[in-house]
Amino acid sequence: MSFISKLFRFGSHNMAIDLGTANTLVYVQDQGIVLNEPSVVALETLNGIKRVKAVGVDAKMMMGKTPDSIEAIRPLRDGVIADIEVAEHMIKHFIQKVHGKRSIFSYPEIVICVPSGSTSVERRAIRDAASNAGASQVLLIVEPMAAAIGADIPVTEPVGSMVVDIGGGTTEVAVLSLRGLAYTTSVRTGGDKMDEAIVSYVRRHHNLLIGETTAERIKKDFGIAVAPPDGIGHTIQIKGRDLVNGVPKEISINQGQIAEALSEPISTIVEGVRIALENTAPELAADIVDQGIVLTGGGALIAGLDAHLREETGLPVSVAEDPLTCVAIGTGRAMEDPIFRGVLMTA
Ligand SMILES: Nc1ncnc2c1ncn2[C@@H]1O[C@H](COP(=O)(O)OP(=O)(O)OP(=O)(O)O)[C@@H](O)[C@H]1O
Ligand SMILES: [Mg+2]
Repeated sequence: MSFISKLFRFGSHNMAIDLGTANTLVYVQDQGIVLNEPSVVALETLNGIKRVKAVGVDAKMMMGKTPDSIEAIRPLRDGVIADIEVAEHMIKHFIQKVHGKRSIFSYPEIVICVPSGSTSVERRAIRDAASNAGASQVLLIVEPMAAAIGADIPVTEPVGSMVVDIGGGTTEVAVLSLRGLAYTTSVRTGGDKMDEAIVSYVRRHHNLLIGETTAERIKKDFGIAVAPPDGIGHTIQIKGRDLVNGVPKEISINQGQIAEALSEPISTIVEGVRIALENTAPELAADIVDQGIVLTGGGALIAGLDAHLREETGLPVSVAEDPLTCVAIGTGRAMEDPIFRGVLMTA
């Protein structure tokens, strides 16, 4: 019996993991998504020895608020594994959290989603981390393929389609057909760069220092891809530290200014889409004119981004039903449904 068919023979607690730079989701076979937590680990240094203090939601709450002895880190920053040891710890923590109540004699089989641009060294590191965490078999799937399956794009048919997954660290643009990636490009711009752009805009224009968590909240609640028709939209208050005299202060900023702050990362994303379209074979390009572009990942939720891309490309653009869970659901389906077997890789 082949390795892959063995994977599908057993039991119901096999897992699919979307190991994102911002969020990690775990999908359990026949149950769906059972865990969705930030990819953050808080490390405490005591007497020169580092130990893990918190992982996931608990660790993210500490970000930007830790004393010197504790640091909250994101092991997968910028779409690559910045710290493999901590990443492994995080993977283990999440697997055990989901798997914990089961017998120690049952080892899950795991499918993990990796960025399409990850190196073989990085892929092996992720696979080893899951094996070390107790997986009996580990298979991998590339992120845009998982995103497309999760977004119900007909990837098994001989029809070209384009998916743009805007995550925390990277935006992956892919053209898919017949279970394969016909073209893929990845830009290191995503939600994190948008947060950084808001931080630096507020610093430059208001002399106010704000944290990344505050910037992310502003982006989620008021972020907009192009300035509102009146140029202003909503006005919001932001608190931070004054750069000149160092004391806490509050300023107000409107959505027109937020759009200005976000313009650079947004145009980098548009540029990535344009490059992918230029490199798409004519027959597939013709399909994309009909099928349109589907946006997934948390960044797809920026207000007006779909309309902006529609305007820039002249193509139909839609946002997947639940962009934040698409990749996890697609990874789960690829694990469950034999029709997708061909997209799983051993390393
Ligand atoms: N409503 C929203 N509006 C704008 N951005 C959002 C919204 N909700 C979440 N985001 C952003 O989406 C990003 C996280 O998306 P997602 O979970 O798809 O990333 P990821 O899969 O962890 O990252 P990657 O795919 O790059 O590894 C974060 O930057 C977050 O701030
Ligand atoms: Mg992702």
